[in-house]
Amino acid sequence: MKLLWAVSALLLSCWRADASTAANIVANPPEVSNQTYAVLTCNLTDNLAIKGSYWVHNGKIIEDSKSTDTSPYITHTLEKITHTSGGKYECVFLTEPQVNQTIEVKTLPHVYAYKHSEHGNEKDKGVLVCMSHGYPLPTNWNWYKGDDEDQEPIINGTSDKYEIRSTPNKTTLTINDLSIENDIGDYICSGTNELGTNKDKIHLRVRSRLAALWPFLGIVAEVIILVTIIFIYEKRRKPDEVNDDDDSGSAPLKSNSTANHKDKNVRQRNSN
Ligand SMILES: *[C@@H]1O[C@H](CO)[C@@H](O)[C@H](O)[C@H]1NC(C)=O
Ligand SMILES: *[C@@H]1O[C@H](CO)[C@@H](O)[C@H](O)[C@H]1NC(C)=O
Ligand SMILES: *[C@@H]1O[C@H](CO)[C@@H](O)[C@H](O)[C@H]1NC(C)=O
Repeated sequence: MKLLWAVSALLLSCWRADASTAANIVANPPEVSNQTYAVLTCNLTDNLAIKGSYWVHNGKIIEDSKSTDTSPYITHTLEKITHTSGGKYECVFLTEPQVNQTIEVKTLPHVYAYKHSEHGNEKDKGVLVCMSHGYPLPTNWNWYKGDDEDQEPIINGTSDKYEIRSTPNKTTLTINDLSIENDIGDYICSGTNELGTNKDKIHLRVRSRLAALWPFLGIVAEVIILVTIIFIYEKRRKPDEVNDDDDSGSAPLKSNSTANHKDKNVRQRNSN
């Protein structure tokens, strides 16, 4: 009998301890899903001395919400909810000890291409990246090739052609051995969380290997043309020099430039 009392006393004290740490805060609504407007409310139903309260968004205290009001009922209004205002909200009551309750505000994932236009060289690989923000982050990423009307899913791991790597906030599609015939076009990344799906589009261009050479060939051509022009110019100039004494041409310059300079001065004085 004594043992029974001891056990029940222990159980009772355990239950009490549990009750005191997990204060009763009624959050209403308990969760917000896919809404553009919401009023979050917390009602502290335990009879505790309250010195004030505040709200927290994704671990950061919302400064405007700090209050020294002793009311057990507090609200926080969210207008125009987007992926940036979604996340985890907490109401915190300044009691002894502090107590809090969490309200999750869920939105569609915000999905966006890192770059909307990508390019790669033939035979090389193309890397397309999409990212996501919001709460919750996508649990599923998919890639499609094609435009809005005709989309073909890209399956990871079925060939060496495509490789998909995904984390909740980022997905990367690698396209190996790029070809001009098959790989130019639009690619769609699609991120899905429990509320739904959002997409973005990337256009991939593929340049021929020759095209990659064009700038180099251009420079080579330019150098050849320049050299040719100089060569022709020099060739045409030489016969003129024989007749023209007055001109300080390039031939004397090569022999001695200072002598040539003096020579020129003398000639200049003579002409004056
Ligand atoms: C808060 O909870 C108490 C106890 O359940 C209830 O009596 C009271 O009406 C609630 N306050 C509001 C503003 O809902
Ligand atoms: C795609 O396949 C590669 C190799 O088989 C693997 O490492 C990678 O985790 C896969 N990605 C996804 C999103 O399943
Ligand atoms: C993506 O998530 C990882 C961890 O999951 C984190 O380290 C990284 O900073 C996140 N990147 C962005 C852009 O949010």
